[in-house]
Amino acid sequence: MTSSISCPNCNQQASPSDQKCAHCGVDLALAAILVESSLSLDPQTSAGFSLSPEILVPRLGDYLVEKELLGREKLDKALNYQKEQIKEGKSLLLGQALIKLKLIDREMLDRAVTEQILELQEALRQSNKHLEQRVQERTSELQDALYKITELNQLKSNFVSNISHELRTPLAHMIGYLDLLTTEALGSLSHQQKDALNILNSSYSRLQELIDNLLTFSLASQGRMDLQLIPISLENLTKVIVSQSQTKALEAKVDIVTNLPKDLPKIQADQNKITWVLLQLVENAIKFNQPGGKVNISAIPDSLKVAITITDTGIGIQEAKLDEIFESFHQLDGSPSRKYGGTGLGLALAQRIIDAHGSSIDVTSKVGEGTRFTFSLPVDEVQK
Ligand SMILES: Nc1ncnc2c1ncn2[C@@H]1O[C@H](COP(=O)(O)OP(=O)(O)OP(=O)(O)O)[C@@H](O)[C@H]1O
Ligand SMILES: [Mg+2]
Repeated sequence: MTSSISCPNCNQQASPSDQKCAHCGVDLALAAILVESSLSLDPQTSAGFSLSPEILVPRLGDYLVEKELLGREKLDKALNYQKEQIKEGKSLLLGQALIKLKLIDREMLDRAVTEQILELQEALRQSNKHLEQRVQERTSELQDALYKITELNQLKSNFVSNISHELRTPLAHMIGYLDLLTTEALGSLSHQQKDALNILNSSYSRLQELIDNLLTFSLASQGRMDLQLIPISLENLTKVIVSQSQTKALEAKVDIVTNLPKDLPKIQADQNKITWVLLQLVENAIKFNQPGGKVNISAIPDSLKVAITITDTGIGIQEAKLDEIFESFHQLDGSPSRKYGGTGLGLALAQRIIDAHGSSIDVTSKVGEGTRFTFSLPVDEVQK
């Protein structure tokens, strides 16, 4: 069924698929918009408003002069006449004034208006084309930039992975000789030499830890994280964590307390990786704390999972910065005079490890009051 509409200008029948009215040549879409806006006009200003294709074009008089269809004096005459008519309360368009004064004939006026509308449409088409071209150019620039960033990221992660491998080799030699010296296999040591060796051994451990973290991080960035899922007792795990963090806690004068219910089911996770995550969270909770502060490790089970929470009474994190803390190599205080040590890798890696377990880390914090990290791990199948 083909429905028809009536032209808003001449009221003749027109097809909705036509761009222009076959009778008066008016642009149907523009005319419809004009009618709609005229309906919403103040009744005083719209009184006597007559719709003509002329209303669609700006500065008709200048256009007619420019095209040498009208002389400047004739235009002035028509403009004066139009003003007088308006003063008398009769609304009159310039074209209508020109025809009334017989300064131009209807056919020429209509042709000029139609040409001007066509020119405007063409200008609009060109500007749309230009805009589309700009959008295409910008899209391709953005795609290039994205490609470069991806490539750089890949390079960075390859570099980190290669360099960590390279650093491991001399480190293996170092630990061999450190062991020989510490066990006095190469001769007995004086007290001073033993003290020096202790410092060497702890620096060695820190270096090895950093390199291991870098390596795990680069593998995780490449999506290569292998998990060895086994049943783990959280009771035993927290004991290990507390004992490994005790020296740091004592130094910082921070108390670590655990809060685990009796008969806590085993969880299923990668033991080394989850131990590492908990250590990072507890070490952060100690590091960003204050003397006399507390760190609490707690677990709450349900039938499917166990929610593990590490809460501290430390410096806290501003709400707006909570997302930043998971960015790799990023510390909230990154200034050269920063107070706390570290590489800013701990949480980035912890998040990836928890993600790889199909879970996620949540954090809530209040500046000056403390921070709370929570994540859940599945209950071991056998115990469900
Ligand atoms: N418990 C916390 N309380 C307050 N701020 C924290 C806490 N944990 C992390 N942050 C903030 O988040 C940043 C990132 O933590 P992340 O563990 O990734 O790095 P780091 O501890 O600075 O260095 P790294 O863990 O590599 O030794 C920290 O530098 C700190 O600004
Ligand atoms: Mg950390």
